[in-house]
Amino acid sequence: MSATTATTAGAALAAATEVLAAAGCDTPRLDAEVLVADTLGIGRASLAADPERPVAGAEAEAIGERVRRRAAREPVAYIRGRRGFRRIELEVDRRVLIPRPETELLVEVALELPAGARVHEVGTGSGAVALALADERPDLRVSASDLSPDAVAVARANAARLDLDVAIEVADALPPRLARPGAAPDLVLANLPYVTDGEWDTLAPEIVGYEPRLALTSGPDGLDAIRALVAGCPPGTRLALEHGSQQGPAVRALLRDASTRRDLAGHDRVTEGRAP
Ligand SMILES: C[S@@+](CC[C@H](N)C(=O)[O-])C[C@H]1O[C@@H](n2cnc3c(N)ncnc32)[C@H](O)[C@@H]1O
Repeated sequence: MSATTATTAGAALAAATEVLAAAGCDTPRLDAEVLVADTLGIGRASLAADPERPVAGAEAEAIGERVRRRAAREPVAYIRGRRGFRRIELEVDRRVLIPRPETELLVEVALELPAGARVHEVGTGSGAVALALADERPDLRVSASDLSPDAVAVARANAARLDLDVAIEVADALPPRLARPGAAPDLVLANLPYVTDGEWDTLAPEIVGYEPRLALTSGPDGLDAIRALVAGCPPGTRLALEHGSQQGPAVRALLRDASTRRDLAGHDRVTEGRAP
């Protein structure tokens, strides 16, 4: 049975799961549940509780279209156009990286700042880190930037929709106004691209086919953007930098007083320290 001819939610779910499994998706049942429930405007719990819920023709067509996109390995977050991150929901599309759970660690570092501190996020993408921080700590003065004008447009739209007061600008590394001596914020946060150029072709089809390469790769060892950011910060500037699980020693070597935190999976993930 194809998802487009299904007449109940349970049948649509079964058909979608089968199509996504055949397409090689890692989590076909979960993806099918999310797409079917989202299209029907119900939660996954309601979908499970009421498999006999009738599915109208237009709904079946919409589910079929979304399942076809997922079978072509488009990420679920782009198909839904939304992704949750900590307490907020961000609108996301192919102009920005889909925020990852491990990036919440950057927010947690900044939550330790004293009241009123100034924080700037470099490489904000959808705005996930800066906006989650502004949402949880309205006392902080949060700003953000990104090299990509497309990403800045997405992040600004998210800030406006969520009614969060975060100024977001286009800049390569730290914006020049913050790079002047005495003007640096109390903490610079960054989840810059850190995949090596050589790894790009080995990544999942969901990433290579849909996510912006500018958000992911950064030179032969993956550290070009991080190195440039550190080099452009006034000496003594405090930074917290997300990086790959094998890059802790290399990132610590770029900073003074450096230490590395692990993510929930136990991998080196965020290194903090001061610009030399
Ligand atoms: C890994 S994504 C992170 C996006 C977002 N912070 C998140 O965690 O979901 C990296 C972001 O850095 C931006 N970027 C890449 N090189 C940059 C640079 N030299 N200066 C500023 N931003 C840069 C990309 O456009 C992209 O939005």
